[in-house]
Amino acid sequence: MTERLLVEIDHVAIAVKDLDAAIEWYALALGAEVAHRERVEHDGVEEVLVKVAESYVQLVSPTREDSPVAKFLATRGEGLHHIAYRVADCAEALEAVKRAGVRVIDEAPRPGSRGTMIAFLHPKSSFGTLVELVQEGARSPG
Ligand code: CO
Repeated sequence: MTERLLVEIDHVAIAVKDLDAAIEWYALALGAEVAHRERVEHDGVEEVLVKVAESYVQLVSPTREDSPVAKFLATRGEGLHHIAYRVADCAEALEAVKRAGVRVIDEAPRPGSRGTMIAFLHPKSSFGTLVELVQEGARSPG
């Protein structure tokens, strides 16, 4: 058994075609405001974070055609893309997950948005849902 790794839900990510339309819907329908917006070149996405208590809803949209999110939209359409769990230490959590025999996408933690360190687990080994581990405050936000 792995010791308890999950601190909180960091974010639930929803793939959208039109980021500004999604932001507008969240504001109009739910009164929700954007807390953070960032382009993540490595992943070919632009994302916004809508804060809900201590967690976020992440609206994510591709910035180029070869982005994994562009492929996701082309094959599955808009909708739930991944769930991200906050962990105390991304490297330690990733090692624990690998020791438990889980297939991973990222063999080592890498920079995410908001100065986080992140790692993705493979959806084939997590019931069809892409899972992300997030450590906050790991780098200075930039
Ligand atoms: Co994410």
